[in-house]
Parts: sequence; structure tokens; C-alpha cells
Amino acid sequence: MSEKTEHIETILAQAGNRTDDVKTGAVSTPLYFSTAYRHAGLGQSTGYDYSRETNPTRDVLQQTLAKLENGVAAFALSSGMAAIQLVFSQFKTGDEIVVSDDLYGGSFRFFDLLTDHYGLKFHLWDGQDYDRLTKLTTRDAVKAIWLETPSNPTMKIIDIHHTAEVAHQHDVQVIADNTFYTPLLQQPLKEGADLVVHSATKYLSGHNDILAGAVICKHEADADWLQYNLTTTGATLDPFDCWLLLRSLKTLPLRLAQHERNAKAIVASLKQNKAVDKILYPGHGGMISFYVHDESWVNTILQHLKIISFAESLGGVESLMTVPAIQTHKDLTEKQRQEKHITRNLLRLSVGIENSDDLIQDLTQAINAAATTVTSHATTVANK
Ligand SMILES: Cc1ncc(COP(=O)(O)O)c(C=O)c1O
Repeated sequence: MSEKTEHIETILAQAGNRTDDVKTGAVSTPLYFSTAYRHAGLGQSTGYDYSRETNPTRDVLQQTLAKLENGVAAFALSSGMAAIQLVFSQFKTGDEIVVSDDLYGGSFRFFDLLTDHYGLKFHLWDGQDYDRLTKLTTRDAVKAIWLETPSNPTMKIIDIHHTAEVAHQHDVQVIADNTFYTPLLQQPLKEGADLVVHSATKYLSGHNDILAGAVICKHEADADWLQYNLTTTGATLDPFDCWLLLRSLKTLPLRLAQHERNAKAIVASLKQNKAVDKILYPGHGGMISFYVHDESWVNTILQHLKIISFAESLGGVESLMTVPAIQTHKDLTEKQRQEKHITRNLLRLSVGIENSDDLIQDLTQAINAAATTVTSHATTVANK
């Protein structure tokens, strides 16, 4: 079968097989810890010299990531933030970047740092107003559009194809953070983006046990520059985490299917719950945000959860609940949070792969416990 006809499930399940250069026939990718590689003589190399530059295990992972996102090259980094930092190493003081306005809070924190210390300028864009985007991209200093779709935590969808059409009229690069949907649900490079970034800590690794990031390039020229920069600065992913991430990728399609099945079942249940004012679900994937009726219920809900953990991450097999206003988006000002509707009654649920009935039962009893406690407290006070 030619490579082109393989499906994503096949690419992932077979990742690393038939790559063992020493011909042992190993089906699982060998894990090379060695940082140094012996040379046979002057001017001779096996292709591996020093692990910051290249590592055989990391190479297999990077080739798999590139295939997965339809890129010409991929880089595996020590965290999602390291991946974002690598991408921003392309820009210089005075450059301007358009960013969608609902992003991971840590990205905003980094953009503030780039503004204050490195003289970059950022323009917020709502991801929908293309007249404004057209105006912004005509500015000479605007070099790139950074977007996250679905957005975090309010799950807005941005049309990557349309965005790229506008951007490319003025040679503006399009960079998509594809952490929430993964290439199984959305392939930004095919839709016109130039670079894709992942916090591979999330769905790609999927077990809440690796911190990792990835950058995937559509163009050789970008890949050459990023390779040079990464080799120079060094935030590469260590071999063991490369191996773990490669192993995790093999089950991504199965995990994601179960995340999505569970998320849809939970959304259906939350819709029936009168204590929930509004649910934000983009239609696919395992991420749900929802507003409970009263912000004073939140702590009680978190304390009553028995299966879902109150913890700050997403995309793993274990379900996790976050309060964006006090966790992922705590560094925004109160005004910024209000504008983005990141209020204290907003909860974000990363739905795991547990049984959906158990998750629904857990969530329902926790919400009911909070709603009952507050209601009965209010009644007691009123009766005094
Ligand atoms: C969408 C998104 N991008 C990037 C990051 C940063 O990734 P990391 O925590 O792996 O550095 C996160 C972290 O939560 C994220 O949610």
C-alpha cells in the first residue's frame, strides 16, 4: 500500500515500526538515551552527533507528528509553551501579531512579556470580523495571525480557511494552536495555516504524565529556521518523553472517540439540569465549558466530585474540572475576563474516557449537592 492511502489510525498504530536501523526487527521504537554519538573518523558521522541536535527516538516521533498534521517537518519540545516560544522566535522588535481574543491564559501571559520586554505589538481579533482582519493585515508591521480554535475556554470556532485566504493576500503567516481538536478533528495546514502548535501535554500524550510541545511546519523555509533556532536554544523533548509520546499517539483515535462520545452524553445530561445556565460545546472533541447558576456553588461542586478531579489540565484519560477565572485565566484583569465571559461561575470540563454514566452521575450529584446546600441555606436565613 502506498503511504498516501494510509489512514490516520494506521499511521499512528504503525508509528516507529520498521524504523530500527540496526535491523533487530523491533516493533516498538528503540529508546536512545545517549547524548553523544561516536564518529568513525574525521568528517564522518552516522547522522547523529549530539542529542540537542538530533536523537533517533525523537526523529521517529517528529516524523510521525509531521505526517499526522500533513507538514514537511515537526519539532518535539519540552512543553507547549516552549513550542509557542519557538514559533515567536521568528519575530523581531516592532513586528505586530494579530491574535484571536479567547486563548489559553499562558499564551496571553507570554504575549504580555513579549510586549513589555521585546517590543512586539499584539492586536486582538474576535475570530469573526473579517473586515477588521483585512484592515489589520494590510499593516506592513503585521507578520502573523495566531489563533486557537475551538477557543479556550469559550469554545468559539474560527474559520481557518477564510482566515488564511485573508492573511495570505498580504503575506501574513497563519499559526494555529490545534491542542483542543488534534489533527483527528481538524487539520489546519490543509485548511491553509502555515504552522501548527500543540501542547502535546494534552490529547497527543493523553495520560496526564508528560509535559511536551510540538510545532509542525508546512514550508521547508520555516522548518529550516525553526530547526536552526531550536538546535541553538535547546528546549527539545527528552528521549524518554519522546518514546512515551510516540506510544501514546498510537491510541489517540480510540481515546478521542471515547472522549467525544462521553462529552456528547454529558452535554445532553447538562441540558436537562436546571442548575446549569448555559453549555458551551463546539460539537466535537472532549472539552465542555458550562455556567452554573450561582458562583457560590462552585467550591461545593468541586469538593463533592468523586471521579472527576479538580485539576488544571486537559486531554487526558482522567476527567478534570477547571475554574478558568481562577486558574488558567487568572492573570487576565477582571475587566478582560468579564469581556470574554470568563466569569467565576464558568467551569471547564475535560471529559476523560471513563464510563459516561459514571461521569454523569458524579457531575449531577456534585451540582445537586451545591444547589441544595445553597437553597437550604437561603431558606434557613429567610426563616430566621
Ligand atoms: C491550548 C493550549 N496551548 C498551549 C498550552 C501550553 O502548554 P504546556 O502547558 O504544555 O506548556 C496549553 C496549556 O494548558 C493549552 O491549553
